[in-house]
Amino acid sequence: MTTKAVLFHEIGGPEVLTVEEIALPAPAPGEVRVRVEAVGVNRAEALFRSGGYYYAPTLPGSRLGYEAAGVVEEVGAGVEGYAPGDPVLAAANFDFGVHGVYAERVVLPQEYLVRRPTGVDAVAGAAAWLAYSTAYGGMVEAGGLGPGDHVVITGASSGVGTAAIQTALRVGAIPIAATRGPDKRAALLALGAPHVIATDETDLVEETRRITGGRGADLVFDPVGGPGFARLGGALRPEGTAVLYGWLDPRPAELPMQWPLTVRGYANGALVRTPEGRARVAAFLGAGLRDGSLAPVIGAVFDGLASLPEAHRLMESNSHTGKIVVRV
Ligand SMILES: NC(=O)c1ccc[n+]([C@@H]2O[C@H](COP(=O)([O-])OP(=O)(O)OC[C@H]3O[C@@H](n4cnc5c(N)ncnc54)[C@H](OP(=O)(O)O)[C@@H]3O)[C@@H](O)[C@H]2O)c1
Repeated sequence: MTTKAVLFHEIGGPEVLTVEEIALPAPAPGEVRVRVEAVGVNRAEALFRSGGYYYAPTLPGSRLGYEAAGVVEEVGAGVEGYAPGDPVLAAANFDFGVHGVYAERVVLPQEYLVRRPTGVDAVAGAAAWLAYSTAYGGMVEAGGLGPGDHVVITGASSGVGTAAIQTALRVGAIPIAATRGPDKRAALLALGAPHVIATDETDLVEETRRITGGRGADLVFDPVGGPGFARLGGALRPEGTAVLYGWLDPRPAELPMQWPLTVRGYANGALVRTPEGRARVAAFLGAGLRDGSLAPVIGAVFDGLASLPEAHRLMESNSHTGKIVVRV
């Protein structure tokens, strides 16, 4: 059997992504073949394609893509949890240079899948797992976020950031959403963020201290890093926690020195690699999707694998709010 899949043979811009016909082996024991309906696009994939991710692609012929919604077509020997026809999500804890889900069909080990919650369509499904698992794992499990806590969410217009606003609200916390320019302010307020700071116009530290009555926030949830990370300590209360989960600024992160505080580097893989972690995320996500408190923010939808270069261009323009999804 063959499938169309997106490959790249050299590091570069979105134009290095090509759609090719490749062989697709039958599912081995413990593996599942999935017909992909939609893929969620992540900054990690743009970084991997351009050589800025934390591990390098094997070239030529690297695959790409962490996140997909699809339907099970065939299961290998020993697979008990899935049957043909089941709607599933790819659970984003794999080497996407090898298992990349930018494809019409993929064969994945069963532990790389989770069930798609009932009533969630392919576009919402492809936008859900990585953003909410990172927001929940990074803020609630690693950051200890609870009811009444203030959390500063930088990069709040991103796929993860929009999920983080909803996640904070769902646990009863108070999100302070930060975006650089003023353009996305209205969209973030519409998501229910009670406070939105456009950091090109307003000082994030001073404004956070004002919002919190001088005390400082309990948690900072930051995907940017770089030298600016040090200053975020000024937005925290004493003994607060800064969770760093990305490096949108590629320069080395500088440590906040407003001690005492806790700095945690968050890697979602450590949570979703275990069955217990996947079950906790699935329970949190499922409950939120059911009651509507978690609803993936879809910034743009493209059609066809050939549109992935355009989807990457949009992501790297930073003009989107929420998730970019490609229907396959
Ligand atoms: N650690 C983990 O396990 C984990 C899991 C998932 C994602 N991540 C990381 O989380 C980050 C966000 O991913 P995503 O897919 O949600 O991103 P995304 O949708 O592409 O959004 C990124 C947003 O961040 C802001 N931004 C971009 N560059 C920036 C910079 N240099 N300084 C400040 N803000 C900047 C922009 O918003 P404004 O223009 O509105 O400011 C942009 O729209 C990435 O670094 C990704 O690798 C980490």
